Amino acid sequence: MKKEDKKMSIFIGGAWPYANGSLHIGHLSSLLPGDVLARYFRLKGEKVLYVSGSDCNGTPIAIKAKQEGVTPKDIADKYHQEFKESFERLGFTFDCYTRTDTALHHEVVQNVFLELLDNGKLYKKKEDQCYCESCEQFLPDRFVEGTCPHCKSQARGDQCDYCSQLLNPIELLDKICKTCGNEPIVKTTEHFYFKLSSLQKELEHYVSEAKKDGKWRENAIHLSERYLKEGLIDRAVSRDLPNGVPVPVEGYEEKKIYVWIEAITGYYSASKQWALDNARDEAEFWNENTKAYYVHGKDNVPFHSIIWPGILKSINKKPLPTHIVSNEFLTIEQKKLSTSRNWAIWVPDILTRYHPDSIRYFLIANAPESRDADFSWREFIYSHNSELLGAYGNFVNRTLKFVEKSFDGKLPNGEVEVLFKEKIIQLYEEVGALIEMAEFKTAINKIFQFVRYANKYFDEQKPWIKIKANKNECANILATCVYIIANLAQVLNPFLPFSSERIQKMLRITEIKWSLIEYNDLSLDEVEPLYERIDIIRIEEETIKLKESSKQGTD
Ligand code: MF3
Ligand code: ZN
Repeated sequence: MKKEDKKMSIFIGGAWPYANGSLHIGHLSSLLPGDVLARYFRLKGEKVLYVSGSDCNGTPIAIKAKQEGVTPKDIADKYHQEFKESFERLGFTFDCYTRTDTALHHEVVQNVFLELLDNGKLYKKKEDQCYCESCEQFLPDRFVEGTCPHCKSQARGDQCDYCSQLLNPIELLDKICKTCGNEPIVKTTEHFYFKLSSLQKELEHYVSEAKKDGKWRENAIHLSERYLKEGLIDRAVSRDLPNGVPVPVEGYEEKKIYVWIEAITGYYSASKQWALDNARDEAEFWNENTKAYYVHGKDNVPFHSIIWPGILKSINKKPLPTHIVSNEFLTIEQKKLSTSRNWAIWVPDILTRYHPDSIRYFLIANAPESRDADFSWREFIYSHNSELLGAYGNFVNRTLKFVEKSFDGKLPNGEVEVLFKEKIIQLYEEVGALIEMAEFKTAINKIFQFVRYANKYFDEQKPWIKIKANKNECANILATCVYIIANLAQVLNPFLPFSSERIQKMLRITEIKWSLIEYNDLSLDEVEPLYERIDIIRIEEETIKLKESSKQGTD
C-alpha cells in the first residue's frame, strides 16, 4: 500500500440542503458518506474540517414562504433548526453547520463576487428572461416549467433532471409560470455573467487529471466531460430575486447573486465561520496540500465539478475538489422519490421509530453509488433484523453474555488467535483504502463478511462445550471473539457510531482509533444487547402508511 504523508488536511464539504422542507432519505443517502469520511479520517488522526449548512436563499424558500403566508426567514429558521436536529440524531459530526443567511456568508460571497469582477471573470449583459405579467415579476428559474428542448421530457428551471442538461429557462418549450399557470412573456433585464467559457481549457485539463486517478465518481466524470465536450458557456450569475445576497455593485444592489456562486461559496464561508468560532485559521485547510472531498447527489454535480473549480481557479484559491462523491438517485419502493406527491420517507419521521444506525446501515449498504438504488420497508426491516441484529448484534451479544455468565463478569485470561490478528490488520487496511476511495458500500460489505466469519468461528469452536472440557481453550476462543468485537467497534465507528459507542462502553475502551486495540486493554462492563428485533408486521404497516399519505399529496 502507498505510504501517504503523515498529517494531512482533509476538507469535507456536504451539499447544502434547501431549508424549505424536511430532509428525506434521498438527501440522507447522498450526505451520509460525508460523515463516514469525517469520522474515519479523525480516527486515523488526520486534521479534518467537515462543513455544510442550510441553503436559506433562493426561490425554493421564497415559494414555500409565499405558500404559507410567512417570511422566507420564518421558513429558513424552522427548517434550519429541524435539519440541525435531524443531523445530530443521526450522529453527523460537522465541525461547522451554518446557514447562508448569516452576515458572514453574505460578506464572503460578496467578496468572492468582487474578486471575480476584478479578475475580469464577470461581465454585464442584457438578456431576455421570463417575466410573468400576472405575477408582475421576473420568474426565477424554478418558477418556470415546460418541456426540455433536448430530451422533450418535463423540465423545470435551469436544469433538466431527466437528461441533466443545464438550461436557460427561456429555452423551455410550452413554458408556464409555476405560481399562476400563465404563460410568461420574455422581457429584457441586465445581469452579471460568469465567463465560464474562458476556463474551458483549464477545466478540461482538470477533469482529465481527475479521471486518471479515479477519485471522482463515474457520474461526475461523465457529466463533466459532456459539458466540456458541448463547450462551456457563460452563465448568468445574478437574478431578480427578493431574498439572497445582494450584488455588491452600485446600481445593482436590488439583484441577488445566484446559487451557482452564492450557495457554493458556502464551503469557504463555513470554513471561515469555523475558524472564527474556534480561534483557528481556515488557511489550514484552504491550501494545496489539502484533500477536498465534496459529497452530494447527482443533481449537484455541475456545481462541484465545473462551476466551483472554475470559481476557485479564477480567484486563485486551493484546493480544487480532489474527490467528488456524487450518488445517483434513491427510489422509494421502486418509484421515483417525489416531495410534491409525498412519495418520500421523511427523516424526522423515520427517526421517531428506528435506530439511527439502522438507517445509516441501510443507506450505506444500499447506497446508489454507481446506479440508482431502492429503499423499501421490506428490505430496510430485513436488513436490520438479519444484518445488524442477526449478524453483528448477535455476535456481540452471544460472546459478551457468555463471558459475563461463565467468567464471573470478567474477561477471561486468554490468548487471542494469531490468525485473527492478521485478519484484522488486513481489515483495517482494506476498509480504510475503500473509504478513502469513497467506496462505502464495498467497505461495509467487507466488514459484514468478516462479522459472518466471526459468527462461524464461534459456532465451530463451540465455547459452550469447551467450557466444560477445556476451560483454557475456551478462554482463548472468547478472548479472540472479544478482541474481534473491540476492533469491529472501531472499524464500524464511521458507519455505525451509536453501536460502536455502546461497545466502547461495554468493553471500557477509552479511546477509539483506527488501529489495533489489544485484548489486554479491555475489561468488561455491563452487557446490553445492541439492537432489538423489529416485528415484520411493521413492513406492511409502514408500506400502507406510505401509500396512504402519498395519495393526499398533490402534484
Ligand atoms: N441548495 C442547493 C441545491 O440543493 C445547492 C446545494 S449544493 C451547494 O441544489 F454546495 F451548491 F450548495
Ligand atoms: Zn405567474
